[in-house]
Amino acid sequence: MLWTLVLLLIGLFIIVLLYSTRTRQKNEPPLDKGSIPWLGHALEFGKDAAKFLARMKEKHGDIFTVCVAGHYVTVLLDPKSFDAVINDTEFLDFTRNRNQLLKRIFSLQLPSVKPAAERTWMKRHFQGHGLSKLSSSMNIHLQSLLLSDHRDCGPSKWRQEGLFSLCYSLLFRAGYLTLFESTDNAAAVYKEFRKFDNLLTKVARSSLNRGESKTANSSRERLWELLSQGRLSGRSETGSWQQSYHHFLQEQGVDAEMQTRALLLQLWTTQCNAGPAAFWLLGFLLTHPEAMEAVRSEVGHLISQDTHRQHPPTDLLEAHSTPVLDSVLSETLRLTAAVMISREVVQDKTLHMANGQEYHLRQGDRVCLFPFLSPQMDPEIHQDPQLFKYDRFLNEDITVKDKFYKDEKILKYYTLPWGAGGNICSGKDFAVQTVKQFVFLLLTHLDIETCDPDDKLPPVNPSRYGFGMLQPDGDLQVRYRLKEPLYEI
Ligand code: HEM
Repeated sequence: MLWTLVLLLIGLFIIVLLYSTRTRQKNEPPLDKGSIPWLGHALEFGKDAAKFLARMKEKHGDIFTVCVAGHYVTVLLDPKSFDAVINDTEFLDFTRNRNQLLKRIFSLQLPSVKPAAERTWMKRHFQGHGLSKLSSSMNIHLQSLLLSDHRDCGPSKWRQEGLFSLCYSLLFRAGYLTLFESTDNAAAVYKEFRKFDNLLTKVARSSLNRGESKTANSSRERLWELLSQGRLSGRSETGSWQQSYHHFLQEQGVDAEMQTRALLLQLWTTQCNAGPAAFWLLGFLLTHPEAMEAVRSEVGHLISQDTHRQHPPTDLLEAHSTPVLDSVLSETLRLTAAVMISREVVQDKTLHMANGQEYHLRQGDRVCLFPFLSPQMDPEIHQDPQLFKYDRFLNEDITVKDKFYKDEKILKYYTLPWGAGGNICSGKDFAVQTVKQFVFLLLTHLDIETCDPDDKLPPVNPSRYGFGMLQPDGDLQVRYRLKEPLYEI
């Protein structure tokens, strides 16, 4: 007992010593250790990373180093200098941090899987021919789920539901049916997944209490079980994405247990963003009548061009450009996609900023970009950045606007919802098509409105900054019914 206490005290002493001895060296970014030894700014960071980093930016400028739970993280918020981090694969590494998270969140270790091989495999499925196959399958599932969810109520009957639940549930189940093997447990997987997803940020930060930890563990095990049901029962669909993924993992020497665990990672990666993105997009449309009118007019124009109703919506969306809907999607993602691009410094590095300044980064530290704050919410790049402006990404001649400036210089990175570099979203094209299909389907199949015309979108859940698409704290109640006839815009 005494020895344990002595060892604990020595450990604590070493930590405090290490913490307090770090000082800012010549050419290093401003250092902010926070007031709590070792923990540093961890609590503030975990509670609301956007608010915390905005405060640090105000205090230190576009680059600074903060202490977060024993790690020193250099945060770079100048989009003109992002390439110095994104393109560096020699001094910076993203795999170690990612592997630690995979172990903590999914109990998953894949040491034999080569990241480059995995990316190539992903690209094969989410681009070219693979992409059109997945997109048309997704569209069929979305349409049939939308109609079957309404089978028991007549066309003129209004239903009331939270918009977030409506979007997440439909997109998740359709996505699951498109990619995974079991076809009869989509609703059960969705229900269990939401439990797991609600605790995910706490699992990642190791901040679960005992009860939450029990829930997260049992939910994870239940999901592993559900995801392997199709395979075990022999009812799996041949040629499915999941089957191909199993083959890929087998080739990479991954054992059966880790294969099952990897499925949960892929379920999360492929399903956790599209539903929330569709929610925010429709939420903005429903609370901004001028935006809704512009999108309805564009969709109506597409339909009127297809006088004999010969084409499924996917084809219509692929065959015609939809700059207004594209702008609404870009604006939605600018306001609600909040990835954190993180790298580990594996060798001491000199970071060259676009303004000519140079900073020394220490081996063992982390570097982090948080594009949500800049460029996405930077008032010098996007005027009134807190406001939703449906035409922000439209030129006057209704073409896509892709030129944005800071300090009179054109920007390469003016919004970064998909991440960047080695781990940029492999499913970007599929995700864009999916969200557009979904909005198209909802607007052509449903009359939908907020329950109260004065209703506003709920605020974001601040604990989700850094984990891809933000989620709302609460929901937006909507009422909807099937259109009679369909396609009446
Ligand atoms: C609006 C929807 C989506 C957004 C905003 C989004 C965003 C992202 C981001 C930011 C990353 C990088 C994460 C990181 O840095 O660790 C990522 C990775 C990934 N996303 Fe998406 N995503 C979306 C939808 C999808 C969909 C629908 C799929 C596929 C069905 C998909 C497949 C992937 C894959 C496979 C990766 C991992 C890439 C890698 O590590 O090599 N995403 N996504």
